[in-house]
Amino acid sequence: MQDKSQIIEMNLGGFSSRYILGPLACLDLKLFVDAPPPVYVIDRTVAELHSPWLETIQAECQGSSGEIFLLPPGEQAKTPAVLESVYKWLADRALTREGTLVGVGGGATLDLAGLAAATWRRGVNFVALPTTLLAMVDASIGGKTGINTAGLKNPVGCFHPASGILADCGFLATLPRRRWQEGMAELIKTAALGDPRLFAELHRSRSKLSAYLADGSELESVTGILGSLPWREWIGRAAAVKARIVTVDFREKGPRKALNLGHTLGHALEAHSMAHGRDLGHGQAVAIGMAVVFRIAAERGTCPLASAVQLLEILEACGLPVTYPEPSTDELEKLLSADKKTSARAGLRWILPERIGKMDLDGQVSTAEIIKWLNPGY
Ligand SMILES: NC(=O)c1ccc[n+]([C@@H]2O[C@H](COP(=O)([O-])OP(=O)(O)OC[C@H]3O[C@@H](n4cnc5c(N)ncnc54)[C@H](O)[C@@H]3O)[C@@H](O)[C@H]2O)c1
Repeated sequence: MQDKSQIIEMNLGGFSSRYILGPLACLDLKLFVDAPPPVYVIDRTVAELHSPWLETIQAECQGSSGEIFLLPPGEQAKTPAVLESVYKWLADRALTREGTLVGVGGGATLDLAGLAAATWRRGVNFVALPTTLLAMVDASIGGKTGINTAGLKNPVGCFHPASGILADCGFLATLPRRRWQEGMAELIKTAALGDPRLFAELHRSRSKLSAYLADGSELESVTGILGSLPWREWIGRAAAVKARIVTVDFREKGPRKALNLGHTLGHALEAHSMAHGRDLGHGQAVAIGMAVVFRIAAERGTCPLASAVQLLEILEACGLPVTYPEPSTDELEKLLSADKKTSARAGLRWILPERIGKMDLDGQVSTAEIIKWLNPGY
């Protein structure tokens, strides 16, 4: 094990999953590979931007560079057609049940690679090397895999935890501003769910966050941000919160639902923006979703107003939106009824904050309240 790494051990439904965070964490890959060499499924952009480091990681694991399947960048990878081409590639390499598949990339890569590992030969060992902030604090932890199909997001997937999650902040040096913002939405969410001290620290750091994230090209990497804020500590704290939640409720029967904070409305707004040709990413939509449920809870008096104000201030400092001009009541109701988490029996349940660190997982919200607080005009 490399010095000064942070380690989080998880037992997820009987699988052991270890998260290692540190500058040399990826060099621990060999600890998770019983029968080398492993095969690599890598986001093409990451492979181009980080090829010398990826070669070092492979050489450290097996003494030479390994077999690599390059995936289309980001969400384009999460299709049945891409999964099928990965299966063909695994068949050509005769990957056996004892083999290891290593996914390297953001959440989309890890979702696809994890599903390939879960299903190939009824499940081979999976190791995740997350390369985005979102993947380091969220997508790599907890074993959810999935692809998009039938016009839906993530309807096909399964639980297959990575045996090792090796997180190295060095990958973030090339991350475009838009991806930092998306990752921040999940990091802020996680802090709000389970780490009041991290939440307070993010709030105290908002002028620095704003200097790097609030303005500027969404497509450019954010020069200087890595060295200016304590990312390693923040990522480690957020990862610990997510690990705690998925450990107590691996299959999302109860407490894991808290991770959907801001997502119920977020999914509806993502769908609305797509239908109207607008450019609202998942993180942006979740930011608006969180802003709305905090405003609703503050107005009802079930959550301190100060917490809602602080949440809005952090989101805005990160260049994330907190309002949305539409949709109409009818549109919103239609979009919400399509949400995959609607239970025919119980109706839609909302994650409503009671305070930072405590959520009501079974909240009820009216369409009128959402419309009122989507665009409050202050
Ligand atoms: N399984 C889970 O628990 C879980 C949780 C949250 C989100 N997700 C999924 O994660 C996906 C979103 O993932 P994401 O936001 O991490 O990004 P992503 O995988 O969609 O990648 C976004 C873009 O960033 C690029 N990129 C990745 N790493 C980079 C780096 N280090 N430098 C420069 N560019 C880089 C990619 O090439 C791509 O263009 C969604 O599909 C979502 O459904 C899964």
